[in-house]
Amino acid sequence: MPQAAILPPHLGGLTKAAKLIQEGELVAFPTETVYGLGGDAGNDRAIAAIFAAKERPSFNPLIVHVATLSQAALHAELPPAAVALARRFWPGPLTLVLKRRPDCAISRLASAGMDSLALRVPDHPVARALLVIGQRPIAAPSANRSGRLSPTLAAHVAADLGDRIAAIIDGGPCRIGLESSVVSLIADPPLLLRPGAITPAMLTECLGQEIALAPQLAAGESPLSPGQLASHYAPRAKLRLDAQAAGPGEALLAFGPAPEGERVRNLSPIGDLVTAAANLFAMLHELDQPNIAGIAVMPIPETGLGLAINDRLRRAAAPRD
Ligand code: TXA
Ligand code: MG
Repeated sequence: MPQAAILPPHLGGLTKAAKLIQEGELVAFPTETVYGLGGDAGNDRAIAAIFAAKERPSFNPLIVHVATLSQAALHAELPPAAVALARRFWPGPLTLVLKRRPDCAISRLASAGMDSLALRVPDHPVARALLVIGQRPIAAPSANRSGRLSPTLAAHVAADLGDRIAAIIDGGPCRIGLESSVVSLIADPPLLLRPGAITPAMLTECLGQEIALAPQLAAGESPLSPGQLASHYAPRAKLRLDAQAAGPGEALLAFGPAPEGERVRNLSPIGDLVTAAANLFAMLHELDQPNIAGIAVMPIPETGLGLAINDRLRRAAAPRD
């Protein structure tokens, strides 16, 4: 396949992108979280092409993006808790796992064969325009090969998938830089499957009910069991977590006050977690050079967005298969 066309985030580029998606092609586009690898959610071939391009294990279901809450209601059953969360946090970085409606028109492959469906209304003007112009739900996992870092710039997508997809809409850097929070409403109480910018405290406050947390690794716990922790957000270099400084040959991913240097990136010199989340994948990409002995990562507080950042870092540090 020739290298993906880079499309501008204006009407011309968006119309071209929407047409490609309608034709079953794959188009990467920016969302407020990370870049998504988009395909027509009603087209099994397009969904299969997503799995193929990502080399993603096919049992791992995809998030389907829709323009509005009422569109979500066409495809999945929305219990009262789902409506409450959607009204509060959509459009935005929250994915809801819901029961598929019997007449759901979304590819089963996107649900990886399950009776559930993950839905999200994104809050990025380019993503929203693409959904409206394309007039269909768009399945979009993060636009990276399976096991690699999630992309927060069009250039990341081009480097990882540029020879496998039709086009990339370049909308600049992603505002949040971490994938959406994923909440399953199939279970009661609701279960947080993946931490993100919408924190457990925000969810609990909205629901008026404690939210259950899917098992994550506790701070300092080492990822021993492969089932407990799939190597998922992995740079090529080895990560050493909770480091105070870089060892010989190592690059340093700093947080808070730290020395500067050629092989140092600082997630946030003032210790701001929102900035750190937005910088995380881009800085890991920059440090992940073949000539380093590994990446030493300074400790990140286990609060708020720090939970999601540490989740990604532990996965990135997990043993590879
Ligand atoms: O921020 C995001 O969510 C980005 C942007 C592009 O929207 N998308 C994204 O998609 O991160 P993906 O496919 O890389 O992550 C999907 C996550 C996975 O952890 C998957 O297991 C979970 O959502 N998921 C999807 N459908 C599910 C389902 N039916 N049941 C349980 N988990 C599901
Ligand atoms: Mg992903």
